[in-house]
Amino acid sequence: MSAPNIETIVSLSKRRGFVFPASGIYGGLGSAWDYGPLGVELANNIKKSWWNWLVYERDDIEGLDSSIIQNRLVWKYSGHEQTFHDPLVDCRKCKKRFRLDKLEDVQCPLHNEFHPGESPECSLTEAREFNLMFRTTLGAVSSDDDPAALAYLRPETAQGIFTNFGNVLNTSRRKIPFGIAQIGKAFRNEITPGNFIFRTLEFEQMELEYFCKPDEASQVFESLLEAYTEWMQKIGISKENLLLYEVEPEKLAHYSKRTVDVMYRFFPERSAESQWDELMGIANRTDFDLKSHSKKPEDTEGKRINPDSTEDLSYFDPQTNERFYPYVIEPSIGVNRTLLAVMMDAYTEKTNEKGEMRVILRLAPEMAPIKVAVLPLAKNKPEIVELAKRIKRELQPSMRTVYDDTGGIGKLYARQDEIGTPFCVTVDHQSLEDSAVTVRDRDTWEQERVGVDALQTYLSERLNK
Ligand code: GAP
Repeated sequence: MSAPNIETIVSLSKRRGFVFPASGIYGGLGSAWDYGPLGVELANNIKKSWWNWLVYERDDIEGLDSSIIQNRLVWKYSGHEQTFHDPLVDCRKCKKRFRLDKLEDVQCPLHNEFHPGESPECSLTEAREFNLMFRTTLGAVSSDDDPAALAYLRPETAQGIFTNFGNVLNTSRRKIPFGIAQIGKAFRNEITPGNFIFRTLEFEQMELEYFCKPDEASQVFESLLEAYTEWMQKIGISKENLLLYEVEPEKLAHYSKRTVDVMYRFFPERSAESQWDELMGIANRTDFDLKSHSKKPEDTEGKRINPDSTEDLSYFDPQTNERFYPYVIEPSIGVNRTLLAVMMDAYTEKTNEKGEMRVILRLAPEMAPIKVAVLPLAKNKPEIVELAKRIKRELQPSMRTVYDDTGGIGKLYARQDEIGTPFCVTVDHQSLEDSAVTVRDRDTWEQERVGVDALQTYLSERLNK
């Protein structure tokens, strides 16, 4: 089982402290969200898992953290100033603005949902292009419309990788093929943000730019796509909820020769063909970016395509004595959409022996915000409380552990199940006699007695299974 719809996750998130509406006390913003005590842990676990897998476990990838605000020329030569547009339409009646290619996702104030051609009350204008980059101005002296002070919040982290290609290559003494990975915020002035954290103005990307010879690009594309789908399953996204979608040539981004979107079943309540939307994209960006940021390449009339760059980002292959611009394969995945998919996939309902429905978030242990909760059976008994707190302190350095005595044991178990804690450790009267505690498994609700001395090894083994 997984969540029946995103709304289920919205209410669980609010109830338990994963995600809250940003600036909620002022009515919110509709398209910005804050990550609460559990949400920040889950997001960090996703990022840690991705970074470990790519930067630490593989030997062909370096990490980077580039600036959100870059010289405006980066966005000129990347093509974003010219082409990073969405088609915008206005409704003459309700006065709202919508993205033409996403009408099915939006809520019109006059009727519940748009169905193109089925909503005669709507009076949409012709589409026009709307640039998605957030603009800002640099410097204390600038006026708001001073073009010399214009800057953008980055709409993708990728460009910081391309502009640093030479720096990383030279300082790490790498040879291609190799990749550069980066996690960071990106910003897009989306026309119709929505569906909780699925489409927001501010989000986080985990991007890998993998540089290779042009004739290796297809094979690299296939192997990274396969590796990513394996990683997604490792963090708890089931294969049945994933679908690969080959983007049609006429819909490809300006830099892409081939793109496959990995779609997740974010909308299981919809009709079969509308259940899916993009979780990640993998693109063959060819040599587009390295070339367009380089000072040397010329157009057909012999004019430099980039008269502003001071560097050439070509690569010299010492084996063949050839100089060329590497091809780039780019898998790009959003932290926020991954978090939503992980939560949806983990969501389960189970009925207890009293016939009550309980929510269990069956997160992979690696993802769980809290790995172990230590619960005293009697909080008015100082020796029990003391032992429970000591166990918490001793486990904490090796696994995220909390102490909780804010309710009866049944309530505490239910709360930990709902936030995905794999194990509860209960300290009872007997523990004071036999130095053993009860370990309860989130998924089976089975309980086992374990000696306090053996507890850390026992839990580590079960968490890392
Ligand atoms: N550098 C390539 C690139 O940015 P993209 O398909 O536009 O490609 C990559 O974005 C990923 O970033 C998406 O698959 C999605 O997970 C995430 N993403 C994009 N726009 C988003 C938004 N407005 N809100 C949340 N996540 C977003």
